[in-house]
Amino acid sequence: MSINRRDWLRQSSLAALTLGFSLPSMGNEEGITRNFGMDSGLINLGSNENPYGMSPKARAALIDMLSEHNRYQFNVKAFDDYPSKIGAYYGVGGNNIIITAGSGDALAQLARHYNKGSLVTATPTFATLPNTAKRLGTKVIEIPLTAEKTHDLPAMLRAIDSNTQTVYICNPANPSSTILSPAALKDFCMEASKKATVIIDEAYIDFLNPPDNVSMIGLAANNRNIIVVRTFSKIHGMAGMRIGFLVTHPDTMNALDRTYFGNTQMSVSNLTLAAALASLKDEEHRQMCKDKNAAARSYTIGALQNLGYKPINSYTNFVFFPLGNYAGNFSDDMLKKKVLIRSNTYPDGKWGRVSVGTMEEMKQFIGLMKA
Ligand SMILES: Cc1ncc(COP(=O)(O)O)c(C=O)c1O
Repeated sequence: MSINRRDWLRQSSLAALTLGFSLPSMGNEEGITRNFGMDSGLINLGSNENPYGMSPKARAALIDMLSEHNRYQFNVKAFDDYPSKIGAYYGVGGNNIIITAGSGDALAQLARHYNKGSLVTATPTFATLPNTAKRLGTKVIEIPLTAEKTHDLPAMLRAIDSNTQTVYICNPANPSSTILSPAALKDFCMEASKKATVIIDEAYIDFLNPPDNVSMIGLAANNRNIIVVRTFSKIHGMAGMRIGFLVTHPDTMNALDRTYFGNTQMSVSNLTLAAALASLKDEEHRQMCKDKNAAARSYTIGALQNLGYKPINSYTNFVFFPLGNYAGNFSDDMLKKKVLIRSNTYPDGKWGRVSVGTMEEMKQFIGLMKA
Protein backbone atom coordinates (compact mmCIF):
# COMPACT_ATOMS: atom_id res chain seq x y z
CA MET A 1 0.00 0.00 0.00
CA SER A 2 2.69 2.50 1.03
CA ILE A 3 4.82 1.66 -2.02
CA ASN A 4 1.83 2.16 -4.27
CA ARG A 5 1.15 5.43 -2.65
CA ARG A 6 4.77 6.54 -3.04
CA ASP A 7 4.76 5.52 -6.71
CA TRP A 8 1.52 7.33 -7.25
CA LEU A 9 2.88 10.45 -5.60
CA ARG A 10 6.08 10.24 -7.65
CA GLN A 11 4.10 9.79 -10.84
CA SER A 12 1.79 12.67 -10.10
CA SER A 13 4.77 14.87 -9.23
CA LEU A 14 6.33 13.96 -12.57
CA ALA A 15 3.04 14.63 -14.31
CA ALA A 16 2.85 17.97 -12.54
CA LEU A 17 6.34 18.84 -13.70
CA THR A 18 5.48 17.87 -17.26
CA LEU A 19 2.44 20.08 -17.06
CA GLY A 20 4.74 22.77 -15.81
CA PHE A 21 3.78 23.33 -12.22
CA SER A 22 5.13 22.21 -8.90
CA LEU A 23 2.77 20.59 -6.45
CA PRO A 24 3.08 23.17 -3.67
CA SER A 25 2.31 26.20 -5.82
CA MET A 26 0.61 24.65 -8.85
CA GLY A 27 1.87 27.38 -11.12
CA ASN A 28 -1.16 29.51 -11.80
CA GLU A 29 -0.50 31.76 -8.90
CA GLU A 30 3.10 31.22 -8.03
CA GLY A 31 3.93 31.07 -4.35
CA ILE A 32 0.32 30.72 -3.35
CA THR A 33 -0.64 27.32 -2.00
CA ARG A 34 -3.40 25.56 -3.84
CA ASN A 35 -5.18 22.72 -2.11
CA PHE A 36 -6.54 19.56 -3.59
CA GLY A 37 -10.09 18.47 -2.85
CA MET A 38 -12.83 20.16 -0.96
CA ASP A 39 -13.37 19.10 2.66
CA SER A 40 -16.92 19.11 3.83
CA GLY A 41 -17.71 22.49 5.27
CA LEU A 42 -14.79 24.24 3.57
CA ILE A 43 -15.64 27.73 2.34
CA ASN A 44 -13.84 28.13 -0.95
CA LEU A 45 -12.73 31.72 -1.42
CA GLY A 46 -9.50 30.80 -3.15
CA SER A 47 -9.92 30.80 -6.93
CA ASN A 48 -12.18 33.74 -7.83
CA GLU A 49 -14.95 31.44 -8.98
CA ASN A 50 -18.55 32.53 -9.39
CA PRO A 51 -20.58 31.21 -6.43
CA TYR A 52 -23.87 31.52 -8.36
CA GLY A 53 -22.93 29.08 -11.11
CA MET A 54 -23.82 29.21 -14.75
CA SER A 55 -26.92 30.64 -16.37
CA PRO A 56 -30.09 28.49 -16.36
CA LYS A 57 -30.17 29.04 -20.14
CA ALA A 58 -26.66 27.58 -20.40
CA ARG A 59 -27.72 24.55 -18.35
CA ALA A 60 -30.71 23.99 -20.64
CA ALA A 61 -28.51 24.28 -23.75
CA LEU A 62 -26.04 21.80 -22.25
CA ILE A 63 -28.81 19.28 -21.58
CA ASP A 64 -30.16 19.68 -25.13
CA MET A 65 -26.69 19.09 -26.51
CA LEU A 66 -26.47 15.74 -24.70
CA SER A 67 -28.35 14.28 -27.67
CA GLU A 68 -25.27 15.00 -29.81
CA HIS A 69 -22.63 13.78 -27.35
CA ASN A 70 -21.54 11.10 -29.84
CA ARG A 71 -20.68 13.66 -32.52
CA TYR A 72 -17.50 15.63 -33.05
CA GLN A 73 -17.97 19.37 -32.77
CA PHE A 74 -17.56 19.86 -36.52
CA ASN A 75 -20.51 17.53 -37.18
CA VAL A 76 -22.92 19.49 -34.97
CA LYS A 77 -25.10 21.83 -36.99
CA ALA A 78 -25.48 24.32 -34.12
CA PHE A 79 -21.71 24.88 -34.15
CA ASP A 80 -21.40 25.84 -37.81
CA ASP A 81 -18.94 28.71 -37.81
CA TYR A 82 -18.82 28.71 -34.01
CA PRO A 83 -16.17 31.46 -33.70
CA SER A 84 -18.40 33.82 -35.72
CA LYS A 85 -21.22 33.19 -33.29
CA ILE A 86 -18.97 34.15 -30.36
CA GLY A 87 -17.48 37.05 -32.30
CA ALA A 88 -20.95 38.45 -33.06
CA TYR A 89 -21.38 39.31 -29.35
CA TYR A 90 -18.22 41.37 -29.40
CA GLY A 91 -18.56 43.02 -32.81
CA VAL A 92 -15.74 41.04 -34.42
CA GLY A 93 -15.64 38.29 -37.04
CA GLY A 94 -15.07 34.56 -36.73
CA ASN A 95 -11.69 35.12 -38.37
CA ASN A 96 -10.68 37.14 -35.29
CA ILE A 97 -11.46 34.40 -32.73
CA ILE A 98 -9.68 31.28 -31.51
CA ILE A 99 -11.54 29.08 -29.00
CA THR A 100 -9.48 27.47 -26.22
CA ALA A 101 -10.13 25.17 -23.26
CA GLY A 102 -10.13 28.06 -20.78
CA SER A 103 -8.07 31.22 -21.01
CA GLY A 104 -5.25 29.65 -18.98
CA ASP A 105 -4.76 27.30 -21.92
CA ALA A 106 -4.62 30.29 -24.29
CA LEU A 107 -2.01 31.99 -22.09
CA ALA A 108 0.19 28.90 -21.88
CA GLN A 109 -0.02 28.34 -25.66
CA LEU A 110 0.85 31.99 -26.26
CA ALA A 111 3.99 31.55 -24.15
CA ARG A 112 4.90 28.58 -26.34
CA HIS A 113 4.24 30.41 -29.60
CA TYR A 114 6.16 33.53 -28.53
CA ASN A 115 9.11 31.65 -27.08
CA LYS A 116 11.96 33.92 -28.14
CA GLY A 117 13.37 37.21 -26.88
CA SER A 118 11.79 38.64 -23.77
CA LEU A 119 8.38 39.07 -22.16
CA VAL A 120 7.63 42.29 -20.26
CA THR A 121 5.08 41.83 -17.48
CA ALA A 122 4.01 43.26 -14.14
CA THR A 123 4.81 41.69 -10.78
CA PRO A 124 2.79 40.37 -9.07
CA THR A 125 0.43 39.29 -11.83
CA PHE A 126 -1.49 36.21 -12.96
CA ALA A 127 1.36 33.80 -13.44
CA THR A 128 0.41 31.28 -16.15
CA LEU A 129 1.96 33.23 -19.03
CA PRO A 130 5.12 34.45 -17.22
CA ASN A 131 5.71 31.05 -15.57
CA THR A 132 5.35 29.12 -18.81
CA ALA A 133 7.68 31.61 -20.51
CA LYS A 134 10.27 31.19 -17.74
CA ARG A 135 10.20 27.41 -18.01
CA LEU A 136 10.77 27.66 -21.75
CA GLY A 137 13.81 29.85 -21.18
CA THR A 138 12.21 33.10 -22.36
CA LYS A 139 13.61 36.09 -20.50
CA VAL A 140 10.88 37.59 -18.30
CA ILE A 141 11.25 41.25 -17.33
CA GLU A 142 9.05 41.93 -14.30
CA ILE A 143 8.02 45.49 -13.56
CA PRO A 144 6.68 46.05 -10.01
CA LEU A 145 3.16 47.44 -9.66
CA THR A 146 2.94 51.07 -8.49
CA ALA A 147 2.33 51.91 -4.81
CA GLU A 148 -1.40 51.97 -5.71
CA LYS A 149 -1.01 48.40 -7.05
CA THR A 150 -1.70 49.31 -10.67
CA HIS A 151 0.40 48.44 -13.72
CA ASP A 152 3.27 50.91 -14.11
CA LEU A 153 2.68 51.58 -17.81
CA PRO A 154 5.52 54.11 -18.34
CA ALA A 155 8.03 51.72 -16.74
CA MET A 156 6.68 48.82 -18.80
CA LEU A 157 7.05 50.88 -21.99
CA ARG A 158 10.62 51.78 -21.04
CA ALA A 159 11.40 48.09 -20.47
CA ILE A 160 10.48 47.14 -24.05
CA ASP A 161 13.58 46.86 -26.21
CA SER A 162 14.51 45.32 -29.55
CA ASN A 163 14.63 41.91 -27.87
CA THR A 164 11.06 42.10 -26.50
CA GLN A 165 8.60 39.79 -28.19
CA THR A 166 5.53 40.12 -25.93
CA VAL A 167 4.04 42.33 -23.21
CA TYR A 168 1.39 40.97 -20.81
CA ILE A 169 -1.20 43.13 -19.07
CA CYS A 170 -3.93 41.71 -16.87
CA ASN A 171 -6.75 44.27 -16.72
CA PRO A 172 -8.48 44.18 -14.28
CA ALA A 173 -5.40 42.91 -12.50
CA ASN A 174 -5.02 39.69 -10.54
CA PRO A 175 -4.09 39.56 -7.64
CA SER A 176 -4.28 43.31 -7.05
CA SER A 177 -7.91 43.87 -8.26
CA THR A 178 -7.09 47.29 -9.78
CA ILE A 179 -7.81 48.68 -13.25
CA LEU A 180 -6.19 50.92 -15.81
CA SER A 181 -8.14 53.75 -17.41
CA PRO A 182 -9.33 52.69 -20.87
CA ALA A 183 -7.62 55.72 -22.45
CA ALA A 184 -4.26 54.98 -20.78
CA LEU A 185 -4.44 51.30 -21.70
CA LYS A 186 -5.39 52.08 -25.29
CA ASP A 187 -2.47 54.53 -25.65
CA PHE A 188 -0.17 51.91 -24.16
CA CYS A 189 -1.42 49.23 -26.58
CA MET A 190 -0.92 51.51 -29.58
CA GLU A 191 2.59 52.48 -28.50
CA ALA A 192 3.83 49.10 -27.27
CA SER A 193 2.38 47.22 -30.26
CA LYS A 194 4.76 49.12 -32.56
CA LYS A 195 7.56 47.11 -30.99
CA ALA A 196 6.07 43.90 -29.54
CA THR A 197 2.90 41.81 -29.31
CA VAL A 198 0.69 43.07 -26.49
CA ILE A 199 -1.44 40.44 -24.72
CA ILE A 200 -4.34 41.84 -22.68
CA ASP A 201 -6.00 39.40 -20.26
CA GLU A 202 -9.58 40.55 -19.63
CA ALA A 203 -10.69 37.68 -17.36
CA TYR A 204 -12.48 40.05 -14.94
CA ILE A 205 -13.67 42.80 -17.31
CA ASP A 206 -17.34 41.82 -16.99
CA PHE A 207 -17.33 42.98 -13.36
CA LEU A 208 -16.67 46.59 -14.47
CA ASN A 209 -19.21 49.37 -14.92
CA PRO A 210 -19.12 52.22 -17.44
CA PRO A 211 -16.92 54.12 -18.13
CA ASP A 212 -14.29 51.56 -17.06
CA ASN A 213 -15.64 48.52 -18.93
CA VAL A 214 -13.96 49.23 -22.25
CA SER A 215 -12.54 46.10 -23.84
CA MET A 216 -9.47 46.16 -26.06
CA ILE A 217 -11.16 43.55 -28.32
CA GLY A 218 -11.86 46.17 -31.02
CA LEU A 219 -8.18 47.15 -31.12
CA ALA A 220 -7.03 43.54 -31.19
CA ALA A 221 -9.25 42.59 -34.14
CA ASN A 222 -7.49 45.17 -36.31
CA ASN A 223 -3.92 45.07 -35.06
CA ARG A 224 -1.52 42.21 -35.79
CA ASN A 225 0.35 42.94 -32.55
CA ILE A 226 -2.53 43.02 -30.04
CA ILE A 227 -4.21 39.93 -28.57
CA VAL A 228 -7.08 39.91 -26.05
CA VAL A 229 -7.68 36.81 -23.93
CA ARG A 230 -11.15 36.14 -22.43
CA THR A 231 -12.70 33.44 -20.26
CA PHE A 232 -16.13 32.01 -19.39
CA SER A 233 -14.82 31.03 -15.93
CA LYS A 234 -15.69 34.22 -14.04
CA ILE A 235 -18.93 36.17 -14.69
CA HIS A 236 -20.33 33.23 -16.71
CA GLY A 237 -19.74 30.87 -13.75
CA MET A 238 -18.30 28.11 -15.96
CA ALA A 239 -14.80 27.53 -14.51
CA GLY A 240 -15.15 23.76 -14.53
CA MET A 241 -16.53 23.74 -18.09
CA ARG A 242 -13.21 25.03 -19.51
CA ILE A 243 -13.76 27.53 -22.28
CA GLY A 244 -12.11 30.79 -23.23
CA PHE A 245 -11.03 32.49 -26.42
CA LEU A 246 -8.62 34.96 -27.82
CA VAL A 247 -9.21 37.81 -30.23
CA THR A 248 -6.65 39.05 -32.71
CA HIS A 249 -6.08 40.11 -36.32
CA PRO A 250 -6.78 37.32 -38.88
CA ASP A 251 -3.09 37.25 -39.94
CA THR A 252 -1.95 36.69 -36.35
CA MET A 253 -4.69 34.13 -35.91
CA ASN A 254 -3.38 32.18 -38.90
CA ALA A 255 0.14 32.30 -37.51
CA LEU A 256 -1.08 31.05 -34.11
CA ASP A 257 -3.15 28.33 -35.79
CA ARG A 258 -0.02 27.03 -37.49
CA THR A 259 1.76 26.46 -34.16
CA TYR A 260 0.00 25.61 -30.92
CA PHE A 261 -3.59 26.65 -31.56
CA GLY A 262 -4.59 24.50 -34.55
CA ASN A 263 -6.65 22.07 -32.50
CA THR A 264 -7.73 24.05 -29.48
CA GLN A 265 -11.43 24.27 -30.39
CA MET A 266 -11.50 20.47 -30.61
CA SER A 267 -10.39 20.43 -26.94
CA VAL A 268 -13.68 21.98 -25.83
CA SER A 269 -16.63 19.59 -25.53
CA ASN A 270 -19.98 19.96 -27.34
CA LEU A 271 -21.65 20.48 -23.99
CA THR A 272 -19.35 23.34 -23.07
CA LEU A 273 -19.58 24.99 -26.50
CA ALA A 274 -23.39 24.89 -26.32
CA ALA A 275 -23.48 26.25 -22.77
CA ALA A 276 -21.10 29.11 -23.57
CA LEU A 277 -23.16 30.32 -26.53
CA ALA A 278 -26.34 30.23 -24.47
CA SER A 279 -24.63 31.99 -21.57
CA LEU A 280 -23.68 34.91 -23.80
CA LYS A 281 -27.37 35.43 -24.50
CA ASP A 282 -28.27 35.59 -20.78
CA GLU A 283 -27.55 39.18 -19.88
CA GLU A 284 -29.92 38.93 -16.90
CA HIS A 285 -27.91 36.17 -15.20
CA ARG A 286 -24.67 38.08 -15.68
CA GLN A 287 -26.24 41.20 -14.19
CA MET A 288 -27.49 39.23 -11.18
CA CYS A 289 -23.99 37.81 -10.58
CA LYS A 290 -22.45 41.24 -10.98
CA ASP A 291 -24.90 42.91 -8.57
CA LYS A 292 -24.53 40.23 -5.90
CA ASN A 293 -20.74 40.33 -6.28
CA ALA A 294 -20.75 44.14 -5.89
CA ALA A 295 -22.85 43.95 -2.71
CA ALA A 296 -20.75 41.20 -1.08
CA ARG A 297 -17.52 42.93 -2.16
CA SER A 298 -18.58 46.26 -0.71
CA TYR A 299 -19.55 44.54 2.56
CA THR A 300 -16.17 42.76 2.68
CA ILE A 301 -14.12 45.88 1.99
CA GLY A 302 -16.07 47.90 4.57
CA ALA A 303 -15.81 45.17 7.20
CA LEU A 304 -12.05 44.74 6.63
CA GLN A 305 -11.61 48.50 6.96
CA ASN A 306 -13.55 48.45 10.23
CA LEU A 307 -11.11 45.84 11.47
CA GLY A 308 -8.20 48.15 10.66
CA TYR A 309 -7.10 46.58 7.36
CA LYS A 310 -6.51 48.68 4.26
CA PRO A 311 -7.86 46.66 1.34
CA ILE A 312 -7.21 47.86 -2.19
CA ASN A 313 -10.41 49.17 -3.79
CA SER A 314 -11.51 46.17 -5.84
CA TYR A 315 -12.97 46.21 -9.35
CA THR A 316 -13.16 42.42 -9.49
CA ASN A 317 -14.63 39.43 -7.64
CA PHE A 318 -11.77 39.32 -5.12
CA VAL A 319 -10.25 41.61 -2.49
CA PHE A 320 -6.52 42.16 -1.99
CA PHE A 321 -5.38 43.42 1.40
CA PRO A 322 -2.09 43.86 3.28
CA LEU A 323 -1.68 41.60 6.30
CA GLY A 324 0.51 44.03 8.22
CA ASN A 325 2.78 42.25 10.65
CA TYR A 326 0.82 38.99 10.69
CA ALA A 327 3.30 36.49 12.06
CA GLY A 328 2.14 33.15 10.66
CA ASN A 329 1.15 31.76 7.27
CA PHE A 330 -2.21 33.43 6.79
CA SER A 331 -3.77 31.09 4.21
CA ASP A 332 -2.61 28.00 6.13
CA ASP A 333 -4.09 29.40 9.33
CA MET A 334 -7.37 30.23 7.60
CA LEU A 335 -7.49 26.77 6.09
CA LYS A 336 -7.30 25.28 9.59
CA LYS A 337 -10.51 27.23 10.20
CA LYS A 338 -11.99 25.80 6.99
CA VAL A 339 -11.75 28.92 4.84
CA LEU A 340 -9.69 28.63 1.66
CA ILE A 341 -8.10 31.94 0.66
CA ARG A 342 -4.68 32.93 -0.74
CA SER A 343 -1.80 34.77 0.83
CA ASN A 344 1.70 35.58 -0.28
CA THR A 345 4.77 37.57 0.72
CA TYR A 346 5.92 40.32 -1.64
CA PRO A 347 8.80 42.81 -1.26
CA ASP A 348 6.40 45.18 0.55
CA GLY A 349 5.10 42.56 2.96
CA LYS A 350 2.41 39.94 3.34
CA TRP A 351 -0.86 40.18 1.44
CA GLY A 352 -4.09 38.22 1.45
CA ARG A 353 -6.47 37.68 -1.44
CA VAL A 354 -10.01 36.59 -0.71
CA SER A 355 -12.49 35.77 -3.46
CA VAL A 356 -15.89 37.38 -3.14
CA GLY A 357 -18.32 34.55 -2.41
CA THR A 358 -21.96 34.86 -1.38
CA MET A 359 -22.86 37.43 1.29
CA GLU A 360 -23.27 34.56 3.76
CA GLU A 361 -19.77 33.25 3.00
CA MET A 362 -18.26 36.73 3.33
CA LYS A 363 -19.95 37.17 6.72
CA GLN A 364 -18.37 33.93 7.86
CA PHE A 365 -14.98 35.07 6.55
CA ILE A 366 -15.28 38.40 8.36
CA GLY A 367 -16.42 36.63 11.54
CA LEU A 368 -13.21 34.63 11.41
CA MET A 369 -11.11 37.73 10.74
CA LYS A 370 -12.63 39.32 13.86
CA ALA A 371 -11.81 36.23 15.88
C1 LIG B 1 -6.30 36.89 -14.76
C2 LIG B 1 -6.67 35.49 -15.08
N1 LIG B 1 -6.49 35.04 -16.32
C3 LIG B 1 -6.81 33.79 -16.67
C4 LIG B 1 -7.32 32.92 -15.74
C5 LIG B 1 -7.56 31.49 -16.16
O1 LIG B 1 -8.90 31.21 -16.22
P1 LIG B 1 -9.45 29.96 -17.02
O2 LIG B 1 -8.31 29.12 -17.46
O3 LIG B 1 -10.36 29.28 -16.09
O4 LIG B 1 -10.17 30.56 -18.22
C6 LIG B 1 -7.53 33.33 -14.42
C7 LIG B 1 -8.05 32.39 -13.40
O5 LIG B 1 -8.17 32.66 -12.25
C8 LIG B 1 -7.18 34.66 -14.09
O6 LIG B 1 -7.31 35.11 -12.84
